[in-house]
Amino acid sequence: MAKFRLPASSRIVKGVTHAAPPGTRERRTVRIYRFNPDAGGNPRLDTFELDARSCGPMVLDVLIQIKAAIDSSLTFRRSCREGICGSCAMNINGVNRLACTTATRDLAAEIRIYPLPALPVVKDLVPDLTNFYAQYASVKPWLQTRTPVPADRERLQSKQEQERIDRPAACILCACCSTACPSYWWNSERFLGPAALLAAYRWIIDSRDEAGGERLDELEDPFRLYRCHTIMNCTDVCPKDLNPARAIAEIKKMLLERHS
Ligand code: SF4
Ligand code: SF4
Ligand code: FES
Repeated sequence: MAKFRLPASSRIVKGVTHAAPPGTRERRTVRIYRFNPDAGGNPRLDTFELDARSCGPMVLDVLIQIKAAIDSSLTFRRSCREGICGSCAMNINGVNRLACTTATRDLAAEIRIYPLPALPVVKDLVPDLTNFYAQYASVKPWLQTRTPVPADRERLQSKQEQERIDRPAACILCACCSTACPSYWWNSERFLGPAALLAAYRWIIDSRDEAGGERLDELEDPFRLYRCHTIMNCTDVCPKDLNPARAIAEIKKMLLERHS
């Protein structure tokens, strides 16, 4: 029977409060999910009161400031701070976003930060993306060809052919979409999720790829593809303005056309 209550060990308890420094003029309250599976105990929500004037403008700046000045044990991923690497994806005020491209001034006075939903937590804001990457790898995200490369040139594309893959190829694998998808929450072991399906679509429509039939064969499955129920959360949250829901619909259409 389905259980709708979290086990007691998963309930989030009240954490530590770090009061604002004396002389604070622009107080900002940030509540952050903390969890260390190696240490045991429940996850907790720590409160950090900051002087907004001491931080840069983005949520990632706030996290870096907290780690540098208040609690060096706070753990999160980040690399590029430019919305390129996808590593700082987290749930900020209820929405999956990139911390480095989310301005604090666009958020409510109190900021709440959790790891991406429905994934095991490695520590604090770092989710375990092992399954997510395995699903990406399973769609064989590389060019597959049967014919030999022409002797005198590369495999060329027209401008129009390149433009077809331009947007889907801009995915930064941040996982904001898949972890916003209710179907993925319930079936993440069997449903590939929007990020992997967008990658599959990107290669199916690549004019140079010669494995489109096999790629569609692999996807034709009640769980891998058809667990998408067009809820559209994925497209709503994508920080790169991509449209995985539409890509999934296009794949379904290709499969339908193949059978008609
Ligand atoms: S459109 Fe499909 S993949 Fe996107 S959130 Fe909805 S169910 Fe998930
Ligand atoms: S489709 Fe968008 S939200 Fe999903 S992984 Fe790619 S960049 Fe992130
Ligand atoms: S740090 Fe690279 S996307 Fe945010």
